[in-house]
Amino acid sequence: MSFALTAEQEALRAKARELAEQVIAPRAAEVDRTETYPWDNVKALTEAGFMGMTVPKEYGGPGHSFLDVTLVIEEMAAQCGVTGRIAVEGNMGAISAVMQYGTEAQKKRAAEYVLSGDKPAICITEPEAGSAATEMTTRADRRGDKYVLNGKKHWITGGGVSRLHLIFARVFDETGAELGIGGFLAFRDEDKGLVIGTREPTMGLRGIPETEVIFEELELPADRLVMPPSGLKRGFADLMNAYNSQRVGAGTVALGLAEGSYRRALAFSKEREQFGRPIAEFQGLQWMLADMSVQIEAARALIWRAAATAGKGGNPFPDSLAAAQAKIFASEMALKVTTDGLQIHGARGYSRNWPMERIQRDARMFTIGGGTAQILRTVVASRLLNAKLPQTRDGYARLAETTTSRTQAAE
Ligand code: FAD
Ligand code: COA
Repeated sequence: MSFALTAEQEALRAKARELAEQVIAPRAAEVDRTETYPWDNVKALTEAGFMGMTVPKEYGGPGHSFLDVTLVIEEMAAQCGVTGRIAVEGNMGAISAVMQYGTEAQKKRAAEYVLSGDKPAICITEPEAGSAATEMTTRADRRGDKYVLNGKKHWITGGGVSRLHLIFARVFDETGAELGIGGFLAFRDEDKGLVIGTREPTMGLRGIPETEVIFEELELPADRLVMPPSGLKRGFADLMNAYNSQRVGAGTVALGLAEGSYRRALAFSKEREQFGRPIAEFQGLQWMLADMSVQIEAARALIWRAAATAGKGGNPFPDSLAAAQAKIFASEMALKVTTDGLQIHGARGYSRNWPMERIQRDARMFTIGGGTAQILRTVVASRLLNAKLPQTRDGYARLAETTTSRTQAAE
């Protein structure tokens, strides 16, 4: 596999870097301090063609690949983690699921939203169903030509600023029989019953709200159900398959934050003098910088590799194994690299007048959101062992029964 970018990709990366350095960087501290959604940055991203990048040409988008998107996300995140995350959700995750699985009408509408700057919200997590996402209780009951949704999600990125929502819910037919998990399109300010709840006070990434999203008899026309290609019974698996794109995106924000920390630490180490020499002349720091660069290059290689698996073997999305591996490595790498970047700045690194503490706070999230580093290891292990690895006690019991009955049948 080639790791060389094409001339178009190099140009895209250069354009993203210029926008990030000239427009996004000067606003980053303010976004963090005021904890306000950076609408100006959204406008800049939209005008640059960095929202809806993966929307195919027939729906008005430029039809970029996931790899192309990672180039933009990394540059944004190197200056502002929040803007990096907007670039993730404006191009991956919910929008990718709709553009792949949706009806013509759903695709047209979703494309219009992201291309005009709406960052969709993806609503999976519930207070009692975090890692155990399949235990979600939000339900969608069929009533005539409508579905009625009831339930509560929390930690929804963009709650209160996003308009398009993709809501994961258990689907029931009119007799009350459960059909599986599906995704529903809902629009804030249009669909009554979609209520934005409490905002979380977060450690980092403060410019983007994380809120509860509550469904109170939310009535949606039946054609808002985004039908998974394998049907509702396998709906969760199909939706998570699309979600693998967002896992690559989240890993890329972590990568960008680490890159931003490294670039600043490298520059600072050449300027700051102690003992009559630039601190970059001390081998102790040289080795820290060297390690940072090695870790960043390794993470980037995993991210690009994961993004490049999209479209292989008939799967339009990044492979779940490659996506999990990339996100685990990039998110854990960013913890170490941003800590070292701050350390190289000495006390200045610890000051809120400098960007290093913000970068470190922003980086802390990525081993948690989008599938924790522990859960992703179970995803990796299940692929390596080619085995179902149930996490619930019931699941293990059922697996043991199936295995025993299979063994007995073989005997
Ligand atoms: P829990 O599942 O309660 O886990 C607690 C701890 O137990 C973790 O360390 C976990 O790794 C560990 N653990 C749990 N199960 C296992 C297991 N089987 N094996 C080993 N360890 C295990 N969700 C959305 O739906 N949409 C969003 O837009 C969104 N954005 C987010 C943004 C941020 C900033 C954050 C922090 C979270 C966001 N989330 C979002 C939620 C996120 O996906 C969940 O936090 C995550 O899936 C973990 O769930 P939990 O927090 O309930 O932790
Ligand atoms: N890509 C493709 N398919 C996936 C997938 C992914 N990322 N995650 C799960 N699936 C499939 C499974 O392979 C399984 O299919 P199978 O029946 O053919 O084996 C099906 O979906 C159900 O998954 P399973 O692993 O049996 O579910 P579980 O109840 O044991 O729960 C998860 C495990 C999937 C919920 C857990 O691993 C997970 O990803 N939790 C984190 C949730 C998350 O990322 N939230 C982010 C919100 S922004």
